[in-house]
Amino acid sequence: MSGGRTVRRTLMGIAVCGALALGLAACGDDEPSGGGGGDTTAASAAKAVALLLPETKTTRYDEQDKPLFEAKLTELCPDCTLSYQNADQDSAKQLTQAEAEITKGVDVMVLDPVDGKAAAAIVDKAKAAGIPVISYDRLLLDSEPDLYISFDNEQVGTLQGEALAEKLKTDGNPTGPIVKINGSPTDNNATLFKKGSNAALKAAGVKILIEYDTPDWSPDKAQTFMDGQITKLGKDGFKGVYAANDGTGGGAIAAMKSAGIDVTTIPTTGQDAELAAIQRILVGEQFMTVYKAIKLEAEAAAQAAVDLANGTTPSSATSTVNNGKIDVPSILLTPVAVTKDNVKDTVVADGFYTAAQICTGDFAAACTEAGIQ
Ligand code: BGC
Repeated sequence: MSGGRTVRRTLMGIAVCGALALGLAACGDDEPSGGGGGDTTAASAAKAVALLLPETKTTRYDEQDKPLFEAKLTELCPDCTLSYQNADQDSAKQLTQAEAEITKGVDVMVLDPVDGKAAAAIVDKAKAAGIPVISYDRLLLDSEPDLYISFDNEQVGTLQGEALAEKLKTDGNPTGPIVKINGSPTDNNATLFKKGSNAALKAAGVKILIEYDTPDWSPDKAQTFMDGQITKLGKDGFKGVYAANDGTGGGAIAAMKSAGIDVTTIPTTGQDAELAAIQRILVGEQFMTVYKAIKLEAEAAAQAAVDLANGTTPSSATSTVNNGKIDVPSILLTPVAVTKDNVKDTVVADGFYTAAQICTGDFAAACTEAGIQ
């Protein structure tokens, strides 16, 4: 153990106390327990874990990723502590949050970067302090994370593009045209969603009138962009909308609705299987979303975090992804396209949502129609 590492362990006691509000560990669990009996095995098992997520406008982070990660961490390591930070789409804020965790001396950092390139500075600092880093969901570029856990993100784009092209064909508009709303240009995932969807749309001969990269994945900015396109192209000027996720799709649908467009006639894509999107899909306001089993992703990350915090190399990586600097050992999970036809067999069957969560008020009839009860 290096000198720097010893300092980190001492500082970690503070982190343990600071994390009490999360209810994960008793303050002082980092120290030998058992009435001074010197139970060093228990002491060395108590690790400090930092989870840094990028934003709150997309519901998955606070509703799925964080609680699922925390539950698995508690199960695997009841004495471990979790420090959770959300950057609210602000890359500078994320740097400050990460620096604070590094100063505290956490044992492992799980980082979903706002800006994949800018966050290389975080990885460099963490690694210099001996803290392993997991690239969570979004790839950390030009740096040396220990592991990357995500979905096959190009495949997410392919599923969106193929489903939209297919629907346009069924609607009698095989060539579109469509308006295309991509994700944040600082998110490597957005680049992959764009790559997969553009290839699928091109192969099907769908015409893209205009493409927009939504800063920070902001639903509001997607809505404003769509407002402008409706004014420019006219209400009948496009036959579908590609939106990279449910937040931006929701923004586009809101813009169309307020312009008086019948959104059930304009297929719009999404991603994340957000509750509001699943409800929109059931009533025909959104055409599809992409379900990603976040439970598997968050649990794989918690397992790997415990391994890395204990100095063990996680054995779960099945491939590598080059991030511009190294081939990062990676776990890439499989996304699934969801339309009205398979809501029941995907998100409901998987326990992502219960029927009661989806089938509220206005959605009850659509639920019955889709066989969800
Ligand atoms: C994630 C998506 C999410 C988006 C916006 C992407 O990196 O993979 O699930 O909708 O970021 O936060």
